[in-house]
Amino acid sequence: MRTLIADITRKAGEIVTIQGWVDNRRDHGKLIFIDVRDRSGVAQVVCTPEKQCREIAQEVRGEWVVSITGIVNKRPDKMVNPGLETGTVEIEATEVLVLNQSQTTPFSVATDGKELDESIRLQYRYLDLRRARLQKNIRTKANMMQYIRTKLSAQDFVEIETPLLTKSTPEGARDFIVPSRIEPGSFYALPQSPQQYKQLLMVAGFERYMQFARCMRDEDTRGDRQPEFTQLDMEMSFVEREDVMAVNEKLLIDLVTDLFPHKKIQEIPFPRITYKEAMEKYHSDRPDIRTDKQDPDLLAFCWVIDFPFFEKTETGGWTFTHNPFSAAIPEHRGHLVAKEHIGEILTTQYDIVLNGFEIGGGSIRNHTAQGLTKVLEIMGHTTENIMKNFGHMLEAFSYGAPPHGGIAWGFDRLVMLLLNEPNIREVIAFTKTGEGRDLMMNAPSAVEKAQLDELHLKIVEPKNK
Ligand code: AMO
Repeated sequence: MRTLIADITRKAGEIVTIQGWVDNRRDHGKLIFIDVRDRSGVAQVVCTPEKQCREIAQEVRGEWVVSITGIVNKRPDKMVNPGLETGTVEIEATEVLVLNQSQTTPFSVATDGKELDESIRLQYRYLDLRRARLQKNIRTKANMMQYIRTKLSAQDFVEIETPLLTKSTPEGARDFIVPSRIEPGSFYALPQSPQQYKQLLMVAGFERYMQFARCMRDEDTRGDRQPEFTQLDMEMSFVEREDVMAVNEKLLIDLVTDLFPHKKIQEIPFPRITYKEAMEKYHSDRPDIRTDKQDPDLLAFCWVIDFPFFEKTETGGWTFTHNPFSAAIPEHRGHLVAKEHIGEILTTQYDIVLNGFEIGGGSIRNHTAQGLTKVLEIMGHTTENIMKNFGHMLEAFSYGAPPHGGIAWGFDRLVMLLLNEPNIREVIAFTKTGEGRDLMMNAPSAVEKAQLDELHLKIVEPKNK
């Protein structure tokens, strides 16, 4: 039976078998030391001249997979290694089995990886993920998900999956589209967010929905932006702006307090800043209000509210600043219905900002067909176009849609900030480069002509090729 390395400190005097990877091997002539790593930690194994296993111990190399049986010995006080969780003991090997060999890895997995060119890390991501920093990041992200699910489920939120093959939903970025084989010339869009589905779940009577939702947006990547990312997505019925903000503020405070106790939240309740103030005072709609920017453990959350609903387009029309499904603030709902003072209408949109990053945003929605139609009309959609693109939403709203609102957190972004990582690629297991390439799988890549034929697609070579 295998013993996890983290448990060996409690097993002094016992014979154990550990299994894992060779982290390091040091041949001191008389003694050979092998550091073995598993998911729980690292242990020092010593092979003495008397034991049969020495020959194999001499052969093994870094990243080989081994199974080692031996006796757990307490180390004398002066030999304790305080740098190792298991540093009070070592295993004196009686048997070393090689379960698999490894080629020499293209880089060391013992460092934090920051010294490496990112492209080689991404090409061999499965090795890169072996390093302690990445193991910690991915495990912390999973713990956060688990924590949030438990908290929200206790408040009656239901986790519901929504489709990936769907129809374009306007979130302001370009869609990734997927051709349909059964209906040549027709396309699905990958979701930029589950916005419409979550609102339809409110029409369906679930009242409280949550999902760790994968979102796809064909936009230029940045340190805090990937073409595929994860939202903590939420929607609630019979709520006002204050209710959604309260649930989320509490969840963020609890999460930090319980999982990141060494972090300090600058101000509770989170300050609220209007869009106008933010622009005037900080020249940004995601202000960094930290009082000490040197402190890596200071978390300055704030809400930004009262955004303008519409902004002028280049061609002189109007477009939404955040979300066409939002409601105006109660005082401005009359303007919206009358289509007056359009530039002054404020939306119920609230963004949550952390240390200068927008980590989430949401709003109270327009839950009447009339309200949504007015927004789309202001944006210049014809009745025909409205029916074609949003007819399903208008129809749904005509069957007793409850008042509702929600929010989505940029989950990777939040994890990045809580782990003090410089970009979200460090907290996404399989991530893409700045140019949107998956260097490990080599995607995107060409497909067979037969596949294109089946989809009735033809590639037109770019002219400058
Ligand atoms: P929004 O478009 O503001 O709202 O997205 C919500 C949050 O998702 C994060 N985010 C991203 N993270 C990584 N890579 C990206 N490309 C990326 N794009 C956005 C941001 C952002 O605050 N459906 C609405 C939410 C709602 O109204 O409920 C929506 O998607 O942190």
